[in-house]
This record gives sequence, C-alpha cells and structure tokens, in this order.
Amino acid sequence: MASFPHLFTPITIRNVTIPNRILISGHFTHFAENNLPSERLKAYYERRAQGGVGLIITEAQSITRHCWPVPNTCMADTDAIIEPYRRISEAVHRHGTKIFAQLWHNGHQNFSKVSFLPVQSCSPVPGPASGEVPKELEEEEIQEILRLYASAAVRAREGGLDGVEIHFGHGYLPQQFLSPYSNIRRDRYGGSFENRLRFGLEVIDAVRRAVGEDFVVGLRVSADELLECGLKLPDMIEAAQRWEQTGQVDFLHVTVSTYKTGVVAIPPMGTPPRPFVWMAAEIKHVVDIPVFAVIKITDPHTAEEILANHEADMVAMTRATICDPDLPRKAREGREDEIRLCMNCNEGCWGRCQEMLPITCAQNPEAGREREFHILPAPGRKRVMVIGGGPAGLSAARVAALRGYEVTVYEKDNQLGGQILVAAKAPLRADLLESIRNLEKELRRLSVPIELGVEVTEQMVLEKDPDHVIVATGAQPITDPSPEVVGPDLAVQIEPGAHVVSAWHVLSGEAETGSKVLLYDVQPGLQGFATADFLSGQGKQVEMLVMGMRMLFSPFDIDGPTLALHLLSLFNKDVKVTYFTAVKKAMAGACLCYNPVSLREHEIPCDTLVLSYWRKAEDRLYRALKGKVRSLVRVGDCVAPRYLMHAIYEGYVAANKLG
Ligand SMILES: Cc1cc2nc3c(=O)[nH]c(=O)nc-3n(C[C@H](O)[C@H](O)[C@H](O)COP(=O)(O)O)c2cc1C
Ligand code: SF4
Repeated sequence: MASFPHLFTPITIRNVTIPNRILISGHFTHFAENNLPSERLKAYYERRAQGGVGLIITEAQSITRHCWPVPNTCMADTDAIIEPYRRISEAVHRHGTKIFAQLWHNGHQNFSKVSFLPVQSCSPVPGPASGEVPKELEEEEIQEILRLYASAAVRAREGGLDGVEIHFGHGYLPQQFLSPYSNIRRDRYGGSFENRLRFGLEVIDAVRRAVGEDFVVGLRVSADELLECGLKLPDMIEAAQRWEQTGQVDFLHVTVSTYKTGVVAIPPMGTPPRPFVWMAAEIKHVVDIPVFAVIKITDPHTAEEILANHEADMVAMTRATICDPDLPRKAREGREDEIRLCMNCNEGCWGRCQEMLPITCAQNPEAGREREFHILPAPGRKRVMVIGGGPAGLSAARVAALRGYEVTVYEKDNQLGGQILVAAKAPLRADLLESIRNLEKELRRLSVPIELGVEVTEQMVLEKDPDHVIVATGAQPITDPSPEVVGPDLAVQIEPGAHVVSAWHVLSGEAETGSKVLLYDVQPGLQGFATADFLSGQGKQVEMLVMGMRMLFSPFDIDGPTLALHLLSLFNKDVKVTYFTAVKKAMAGACLCYNPVSLREHEIPCDTLVLSYWRKAEDRLYRALKGKVRSLVRVGDCVAPRYLMHAIYEGYVAANKLG
C-alpha cells in the first residue's frame, strides 16, 4: 500500500484552496443542451467530485458565436449560462471540489458550416482543421472580443465557479496572435514578439479588471507548437514570464500543439507515458505561480513522482478519471490496486468526441450515463453462469457479482481475454490487455470463480441448471472470402496456386506470408493497419489496399491520434497505402484488382494476399441453448462483432437487467 503525500497536500491559488493536486482538465463532452451545460454534464462532474478530484476545469466555454465548431458547444456569451453554472458549482462544491470555467475563442479553428459566421483570426491564414480562410480581425472587433472574454468570466463568477482558465493553447485565438505560424499582421498586433504578445496581455487585463482581485484567473498554454515555423519552448518560456509579470495570472496549465499537431495532445496507447511533463517543468523553473502538468499521466504513482520532483504543482488526470472517477479516493485510501486504469485507447472519449457524439469510456459504461446507470441489488441469491472470458463476459460477471449473484465464469482458453489476446499482439496495441487486467482484478477481488480451459457444452449447462446463462462466446475470424460467407460484393475469388491468409491468423501467429504481401483492408478499422505494420516489421514488402467506398461516408472508424500513430509507423516502414482499390481475384503470383468507382481492372503482383475482413459471431452455443434454459442472454461479439466499448457496455447492461 503506497501513500501519496504530495498528491494529497492542498494547494492555495489566490483565494481558493484546492483539497489535493489532482485536476480534470477541460474536455468536450457533447452533453450540452441548447448550448448550455446540462443536467447530464452536472451529474458527470458531480460523480468525479464524489470520487475525490481536487479541481475540475469545465469543457471549453465559447465566449462568442464565432467560436461554434460543433452544434453542442457550451455558449458563455449570454446570461442564460449563469443558472446552469450555479447548479454545477453547488453540486461539485458539495464534495469539496473546486471548479474553474475554461474560456475559449478558437479563432481560425472554427467551422463556419456550424456557426454561419465568418471565421475570425489575426490574419487570413487558413485553419489547419477546417481549411477556412478567416476574416482578419479589425481593431474594433479585437476590442469587442476583449469585452466578450471579460463578460464570460464575470458569468462564471456569478455562477459560483471558483475561477477561469483562459484557453491560450491548442492553437486557439490568443495563440494564433502569438504565433508566427498564424500571425502575419503588420500593425501593433503583429510582427515583433512584443506585438504578438499584445492581444493575450489585453485579454488577461480585460478579464482581471472585470472579475476583480478575489477570483482565480489562469491560462492554458501550449509549451511548443511542434511546428517547424511555429512557437518553440524558449518562446513560450519568455511568454510565460511576461504573463506572470502582469501579476494578474494565477496559474499556467501547460499542454502542447495546435490543431495541425494536435494528435500528440491526446496520445493513444503505444506512446510513452507523461511525454510533455518535462516542458511544464521547464516553465515551472522560471515562474513562481503554480504550473499544472498534463497528458498521459495515468496512475497515481506517476502523478506523485511529478509533484515530488517539483516538475509541476498540480497534475491533470483527465482520461484516467473518465475511466475511473474514484481514482483519487482509491489512491488516498491506499486502494490503488483497485483503480481501473485508462489504457489510452481513445475509443469512448476522444474517438466519439471527434465524431460529435457524447463521450463515454470503453471500459466504464457509466461515464456520461451517471443519471441512469446504477448497479442494482440482485433480487435474491441466484446462480449465474457466464460463458466466455473476453471483455463482454467479464464485464457481465463483474456487474452480476457486484449485484450479489453467485457467478462463475467459464473460458475455453487457458487465460482470460478472448479476442483481445490476439488484438493486443499487433504493434502498438499491447495496452489493450489493460482492459482484461482491470476486469480480472475486479473479479478476483469479488471472489468470482473462474474456470479456465473449460469448453462449455449444451449438456454441461443443462446439468448445472443455473438461474441465468450469459453467453459471451465472441467471434471467429473470416478465412473464407466466398460469396456464401461475405456476400457477393466483397467476395474474392481464389484460383489454384494463390496464397491467401487472414489478417487475424497472421496476428495470432497461425499463418505465414511470402515476402511481397498485398493486404486487402475490406473492413475499415485498426486490424488492417496493425497487420500491415506487423508484417512490415518482419521485413515484408507490404502494400495495403483500402477499398475506400466507406471513405465517401466516414473515413475510418479510428480516432485521429491513433490513426496518426499507425500511419506514421507504416510510412516509416515504407508500407504503401493505396486507396480505392479492391481485390477481385487472387491468383498465383498476383491479384486482379479494380477501382470500385470506375470499375477499371489491373493486376498487382504479390506472393501472398492477406485478407482483413470482419469477424463472424460465434453463436452456436447460444442457438443450442435457446428455449432449453430458464434465462438466456448473449452479449458482445457473439451477438454481432463490434468494438471493445460495446462488449463491456453490453455485458454491464445485460447483467444489470437479470431478474
Ligand atoms: C474527449 C476529450 C475532449 C477534450 N476537449 C478539450 C477541451 O474542451 N479543452 C481543452 O483544453 N482540452 C480538451 N481535451 C484535452 C484534455 O484536456 C487533455 O489535455 C488531454 O486529454 C490529455 O490529458 P489526459 O492524457 O490526462 O487525458 C480533450 C480531451 C478529450 C479526451
Ligand atoms: S475510452 Fe479509453 S482512453 Fe478514453 S478514458 Fe476510457 S480507457 Fe481511457
């Protein structure tokens, strides 16, 4: 049992004492309703306050309708926001947690297709995400924006919040003014470093004058834009000193990047822990105001070490507490072994956020559903048989055990994990196993019997006669690309002499390939990328063919940071990625391919064709038991193959519904 003396030492920032050093940084949830913080958002924040976090910074609050990139943006530009703020601050304060509003103008990173207003920036340099050319702000518009920042800050104070964090990072408007990458003005706001600093200093001054002396005002800043022509750490050290010298700034929250390089700000699994804390430390060495560190600080030991080493004064653990809101409380009570560790998969949080969907967590189905998801007590001591030790089965077993059922898990393999065991063999994906470790340690804590190496049959179930049977037998890879299995449109004809294997069997180590490989990525997702990466890592020459028809609707079912990491890995290994190419026929030494839009055909030579299809539900046991047992439910991929997030969610829901 570890203790975390630094983590649980309070800190006073201006007039606010925060009970510990763990904070949740601003993160867009898509929970807003009518562009205002909703009851759903309140419940989400309150649950995390209950879990013991010291400080919550709200999701970005727009100070103007010119900053309206997604329909569900929270708008702090009218007094209508004060009442929702009051409800949220009361809820959070009940648990001793403090809360700051994040004030936001995204400048050229806005989307006028949502706002129907011109995108604003210091200069008409297109935003990296939208590609939109902004309107160059005129002097009087700048003055208006200063007033908007100030009045949004006053609304936060009126709503009972404890402070504001003005977003100066992630390439938003104040950073656009500061950066030579985006600011090409020639007036007093452009050119020299001094001039480029001016807008930010005026924002700070306007906000401080509006809120007075007894209210916290801090900045979120990017320590480096990570761009050839952008701001570098030495520039930001100088800027940090200048902001501190105003005497009006109470803390600096140090992140990195602009939208052009933003994928590093929410790093996926397969990347090193706490990658940018050293930059926060560099800034901390030159200022006296508190500095917050962030990005991939996932466990309390790492957080404690950062504080003990004086690298920062507070640590943001954002995805870590989306995944387990009780992380601070468990660490404080010496129960850190019970923490459900975030695995940085981005599947439920950022992956959904970027698709403009309400966030959740792949491992924690309660995230974002705090009002409706509660584990209900079992109606009596009944027996539950869970068949399948993958994520869906383990999730169901956990919830059934928490409810008070007598649960036994059966797994035909000699270890738990199901398909995750194969998926985690792919390059950069080993952390997927964290989901299984988290569930397994919960089952051990709850003393749930786990029978490994037992292939359950219909006969066994009938003999045991449990009250409830939960089937979670997963899915099988598709190895036969015939029309009878995959449908006529996506079928591949295999001629004698052709060497064809499945991506799944390549990853599991059950199939070998020749040295020149064509990988046909039929189902967009990570399997194709990961297999191409795996094979090129073995020195194979790999060309990946992406049919691409779904790209016309939605490009990939992968979040941006994860996709970027895998593309980087592929491009570094010279994997060729060819879009809008489908395979018609595999032959000895070549494949006959076609463009799915023009239907023109061409041959590509290869030794092996690797097929990356979807998987098919393994539902034989379910079908055999149907109508023969008292209560039968199936969950996860044996219903229809989907994502880890769905498996864990479905296991939770099914077990919570048992009678
Ligand atoms: C779903 C999601 C939404 C985010 N939205 C914001 C935001 O509104 N404002 C902001 O400054 N950062 C935002 N971020 C970045 C986080 O504040 C944080 O810097 C990032 O998640 C890295 O920290 P972590 O590894 O502890 O999660 C978002 C991150 C996620 C996952
Ligand atoms: S979805 Fe993945 S990255 Fe996001 S909080 Fe959950 S475990 Fe962490």
